[in-house]
Amino acid sequence: MDLYEYQAKHLFDMHGVPLVPGEVCTTPDAAKVAANKIGTTVVVKAQVKTGGRGKAGGVKLAVDPDEAYKKASAILGMDIKGHTVRKVLVTEACDIAEEYYVSFLLDRAERSFLAMASVEGGMDIEEVAATKPEALAKVRVDALEGVTEAKAVEIFEAARFPADLKDQVVAVLQQLWRVMVEEDATLVEVNPLVKTPDGRVIALDGKVTLDDNAHYRHASHADLVDQSTTDPLELRAQEFDLNYVKLSGEVGVIGNGAGLVMSTLDVVAYAGEEFGGVRPANFLDIGGGASAQVMANGLDIVLNDPEVKAVLVNVFGGITACDAVADGIVQAMEMLAARGEHVTKPIVCRIDGNNAAEGRRILDEAEHDVIELVETMDDAARRIAELAAAAK
Ligand SMILES: Nc1ncnc2c1ncn2[C@@H]1O[C@H](COP(=O)(O)OP(=O)(O)O)[C@@H](O)[C@H]1O
Ligand SMILES: [Mg+2]
Repeated sequence: MDLYEYQAKHLFDMHGVPLVPGEVCTTPDAAKVAANKIGTTVVVKAQVKTGGRGKAGGVKLAVDPDEAYKKASAILGMDIKGHTVRKVLVTEACDIAEEYYVSFLLDRAERSFLAMASVEGGMDIEEVAATKPEALAKVRVDALEGVTEAKAVEIFEAARFPADLKDQVVAVLQQLWRVMVEEDATLVEVNPLVKTPDGRVIALDGKVTLDDNAHYRHASHADLVDQSTTDPLELRAQEFDLNYVKLSGEVGVIGNGAGLVMSTLDVVAYAGEEFGGVRPANFLDIGGGASAQVMANGLDIVLNDPEVKAVLVNVFGGITACDAVADGIVQAMEMLAARGEHVTKPIVCRIDGNNAAEGRRILDEAEHDVIELVETMDDAARRIAELAAAAK
């Protein structure tokens, strides 16, 4: 999960990284109040999860509270690279003598952590890396050792920071590393880290990506999830602990096992080409032990997607045999009916593997008018594409 700048800075603050005070606001009025409280010239900054806000006009100086109101009015609602601005950070304007770049990231290819630093910060670091690679220092960080003082000095020297900033930069590097480790981040980036004319080092921007697999270790991170930009069905799937990803198509896909679901998406998209470009509407893996309840939850989510015209259930019975899966589907239909949600969208089931014959018998006997059984995966994909196209 990527964080907003203001959230990243909140984590920075907890680990002692030097910042200027600021407040996050959702209205121009609140921005005016915040600017008044800060009492100096402020910077109004769009809070969107993308870089290049400055270039896009999402970072503006305001000399007084009235101007902060005006700048916030202009920035709120702006579209920056497809992200609508719903919040601004009103923060003290900082005099800048120099702009630097520092980051820590998980380098999966090297199976290691990597520190990157440059005294040519502020702008696009990708551009520095491409046009002037010698200006971007890269230092490996051992996961077990971490950023000791010696390692921080190594990074400091590799990037050729000005000597008089040694203590401050070394301290900031260690503080940012603590954010990385203690918050379970996979990326911590500051661009720009600035030097003020009076020689102080301050983080003016912040980007943090948290490792979702470590979410369970951080109760406080739940508050960082931005519900307003998360798909409501994805939120519901999360509550059910289901592996669900919304896509933009018409065929709901439910399967057991990520590999099977992935290949089902492929065959549906392939078959769909013949029917005017019908596409899968989601990825949903109900996992190994698909109980009736899990199947009901899955069907519930997929059927509730208004874009879904038809659902393909593709299950390969293994440890959970096909008869149990079939029972799950039948019970799921009953559960949904009991909740007043009568299923009208066609559901095509392809079940194979352990106890397939018994599974098919159960579905046949249930005689559910929206459920259709198809023998092979390819035929099931063709049939579902045809049904979805007809319902479009
Ligand atoms: N508090 C601040 N005071 C003065 N200048 C700032 C402040 N925050 C940002 N800036 C300036 O705006 C530029 C862009 O802001 P930044 O937060 O880095 O956004 P982005 O990286 O999305 O463009 C910075 O490089 C810096 O020059
Ligand atoms: Mg920046």
